[in-house]
Amino acid sequence: MGQHTSAERGAPVGVFDSGVGGLTVAREIMRQLPEERLVYFGDTARVPYGSKSQGTILRFVRQIVRFLETKEVKAIVVACNTASAYALETIEKEIRLPIIGVVKPGARTAAAASRNGRIGVIATDATIGSGLYTQFIQGINPRLQVFGKACPLFVPLVEEGLTHDFVTEEIARRYLKELQEKEIDTLILGCTHYPLLRSLIRGIMGDEVQLVNPAYETALDLRRLLEENGLLSEHAPEGLEKYQYYVSDGAEKFRLFANSILPHEIRTTQVVDIEKY
Ligand code: DGL
Repeated sequence: MGQHTSAERGAPVGVFDSGVGGLTVAREIMRQLPEERLVYFGDTARVPYGSKSQGTILRFVRQIVRFLETKEVKAIVVACNTASAYALETIEKEIRLPIIGVVKPGARTAAAASRNGRIGVIATDATIGSGLYTQFIQGINPRLQVFGKACPLFVPLVEEGLTHDFVTEEIARRYLKELQEKEIDTLILGCTHYPLLRSLIRGIMGDEVQLVNPAYETALDLRRLLEENGLLSEHAPEGLEKYQYYVSDGAEKFRLFANSILPHEIRTTQVVDIEKY
């Protein structure tokens, strides 16, 4: 460890998601680690992952990891809760690159934040079905109670740009009712899109409930991971594109969405035939 050349330290970090949602994680990494170059891949042709089986997700993730390896990334962030829940444990045994996901950091933050020991998790069907948030939280403290609720309509609503719409608010009220009744004091936004609904969710849950966005802690974890491996970049190498974006379909739609949530403008997004990998 710590023996890497400056070229290796200057290599990009690979960040991927089933689509645009992982940009909420990428933007947090950009904010906390501005010296790092990123290669982002969004699997826009095959989104959503949240309703798919573990076998399918694992196949998709293996292909994406192989693609990112061709970009000579130095580490990988699985910026998708569903892929983290279903594929990370297997993939980390298969590759040599350092890799992290978003579920563990989110679980850790929530376990530390809760005062009354009652934590809610909202996520896709697949993430809730995996039970991984509960497993990690109770691994930290078995006395913590975890209440999961799948909110499958949130992803399409966010992608339709309806983050401040009464339709989304009505659906959110229905989804969140049962968590309000459980008297949780901490709620994990366990899906990449949900931080974009933060103000709406806060309005329904009230200020007493702490909202946990796993992206923040994931970026901290990435810094630690790079440090431990001697791979932290000191400065972004000159003459190289700092952030590169790849998708499996719909480059223009991706670009428009990305430009609505990222602090800088994306000019080009390249389409990759991910089935080839
Ligand atoms: N990125 C996914 C997640 O965080 C949400 C979108 C999907 O279902 O693919 O779980």
